[in-house]
Amino acid sequence: MDEYLRINRANWDSRVPVHVQGYGIERLVTDPTALSDVVAFDRGRLGDLTGLDVVHLQCHLGTDTLSLARLGGRVVGLDLSPASLAQARLIAARAGATIEYVESEVYAAPAALGDRRFDLVYTGIGALCWLPSIQRWARTAAALLRPGGRLFVRDGHPVLNSLAVVEVGAEPVDRTQQSWITGPGASTAALELPYFEQAEPLTWTDEHTYAGDAPVASPTSVEWNHGLGEIVTAVLDAGLRLTALLEHATVPWEALPGLMVLDEATGEYRLRDRPERLPATFTLTAVKPA
Ligand SMILES: C[S@@+](CC[C@H](N)C(=O)[O-])C[C@H]1O[C@@H](n2cnc3c(N)ncnc32)[C@H](O)[C@@H]1O
Repeated sequence: MDEYLRINRANWDSRVPVHVQGYGIERLVTDPTALSDVVAFDRGRLGDLTGLDVVHLQCHLGTDTLSLARLGGRVVGLDLSPASLAQARLIAARAGATIEYVESEVYAAPAALGDRRFDLVYTGIGALCWLPSIQRWARTAAALLRPGGRLFVRDGHPVLNSLAVVEVGAEPVDRTQQSWITGPGASTAALELPYFEQAEPLTWTDEHTYAGDAPVASPTSVEWNHGLGEIVTAVLDAGLRLTALLEHATVPWEALPGLMVLDEATGEYRLRDRPERLPATFTLTAVKPA
């Protein structure tokens, strides 16, 4: 197994005991009509999945996977992390849902799934950043689709992924004309991390994960960003036809701590100050020509 997969698998396995407390699992298990917030956000765009074969790449605890099954899909969830899949199986059993879970890294998915083909490949919300090559990801997704099948991605926007929270030092020059630009001493989001895909990943060590308070045992992870143009180009190069590309000002987790507030309309986070500055997530859909 590649080193990046080994590191990220240990990281994701160790997030599981923390995430089972913070992922809203009880609501999903006890209410058979409940959907995860992530799937609910895109419900109109996803439509009725009745009778469709669906594969959810990087399914983690299977909360979105279960939600896709509740929209009518015959769903397979796939993930690198055995601890995630063990919980996902438990959650599906408690909810009385029939979902198949397969352990595999994304690029090996076609082989792991025995060359089965699907009507819908679904992925997102913290998925693409764990993959070194967006071109290879798009080829993998295309290989999993039947002719006429659909790719559906909603993920963190690459602009969001390139930001770090910093304190402004000197007076910004343009503030003389645009008075709302953040002034000295205040925090803002700055373009500090790569936007375009790089050969070398960013290595992070963080004991804290986005859902839950307890520290994680394997805090190191490696990540890549992929620019929006690179994502679209990869999808087109893989032979898919782009059908929608939307950018949203909100994101399901508090991605820029201290700078975000809960948005009443969506139940997601957005910038507190001038949210029109930031594309926080995107939804991309594409079809494989019949
Ligand atoms: C943030 S979750 C995304 C799923 C979903 N949005 C959620 O929050 O439940 C990221 C998942 O990607 C998985 N993952 C990371 N790298 C992977 C890879 N190369 N192949 C398959 N799964 C991977 C992790 O194990 C983790 O379960």
